Amino acid sequence: MILKIIIVPFAMLAVVTARHSYQGYKVYEVQQKTREQANFLYELEQSNSNLDFWHLSKRLNDKAQVLVPPKEQRTFVADLMKNGFQYSVLVHDVENTIDDYSASVASRKPVSAEDRILHGYLRHSDVNQYLDELASKFPAKVKVEQIATSYEGRPLKTITINDKRNNSVIFLDAGIHAREWIAPATALYAINQLVENANENADILSNLTWVILPVVNPDGYEYSHQMERFWRKTRKPAGKCIGTDGNRNFDFHWGEVGASSSACSETYKGDAPFSEPETRAVRDEISKLKGQCKFYLSLHSYGNYLLYPWGYTSDLPDTWRDIDEVAQAGAAAIEQATGTKYTVGSSTNELYAAAGGSDDWAFAKADVPVAIVMELPGGGFGGFNPPASSIETSVKESWVGIRAMARKVAQKY
Ligand code: ARG
Ligand code: ZN
Repeated sequence: MILKIIIVPFAMLAVVTARHSYQGYKVYEVQQKTREQANFLYELEQSNSNLDFWHLSKRLNDKAQVLVPPKEQRTFVADLMKNGFQYSVLVHDVENTIDDYSASVASRKPVSAEDRILHGYLRHSDVNQYLDELASKFPAKVKVEQIATSYEGRPLKTITINDKRNNSVIFLDAGIHAREWIAPATALYAINQLVENANENADILSNLTWVILPVVNPDGYEYSHQMERFWRKTRKPAGKCIGTDGNRNFDFHWGEVGASSSACSETYKGDAPFSEPETRAVRDEISKLKGQCKFYLSLHSYGNYLLYPWGYTSDLPDTWRDIDEVAQAGAAAIEQATGTKYTVGSSTNELYAAAGGSDDWAFAKADVPVAIVMELPGGGFGGFNPPASSIETSVKESWVGIRAMARKVAQKY
């Protein structure tokens, strides 16, 4: 009897904890030519939580990119045909595009931290270990602090580089969205360059202090490594589903637009503003730097955008030109270095209205004069999943842009 009771739950556990397979999942690219078509896709995104819109903007002639599970594909395609869309299949079987990252990382013998960062996606414990290593190797120039604990108990650590009184501060974060792995990788490369290659970065260190939180949402990040590659949200249960969209959870026009009240949606706003320990951590850190923090840069992927407030309305803030100047400097530097183009503008006007973002909050409530979301490249068609072999090219290019924006901020403030 007892044996039976023990075996059944274990069998169930084995089913529940299997890694999610994307076998047969497709990524469709859908051209929106008319306002009606753009509205149709927007409504579809809002109404069907089984469709995962990897990219959607309100711009005409833009192409949406949508991850569609096998059981939805017939209706999805029928809907497209009925509404006169042109579309193509970008990825025929998503499962096949998921690298075995652990294998590719393990097969190399990394010689240095830089080498590890450039050739693989680090797990969260390795990220924290790297920060701790830097703290012990460079005690005079860096400080590592655990600022909070995630819902599942992981330590959220920041690294502060070149802490000097009266310096302007740049607060950089990444990984509020779990699946956007290239964002934490880019933050780690920034840390690596600022600390271990400081001589070549004197121009952005002499009058600036950097506070960097490389993984805002470690529970989601680890979940996306272990269980479900395209997980976006936090991992705290909410109603009958799990997770809140961290970038809809900030308390500024919370939930007014572009955020969902349904816990199962990818853009769930949460039960309340700052319902998540991870978003509270970002809030508290930026709040501590009030008056000092001049630049908040939040790394996301993908799409090559440099976005600024507002996210909740198509209006622009009075000082938008100051932010635009910084973002344009980043875009120009990247284009000059590699030819890669970024779109620069307010997030509502270039993408779609979405309230409750960290950028709007930092700008409005923490008086940070320059708040930017950088949507990093997807890398070929990597989408959220650029192969580990493209990390080096990608983070080095992005670093050129981040450096240029930091230089501009150092001049202006
Ligand atoms: N792709 C990002 C997101 O959906 C863009 C955020 C832009 N900022 C904003 N406040 N809406 O979270
Ligand atoms: Zn994102």
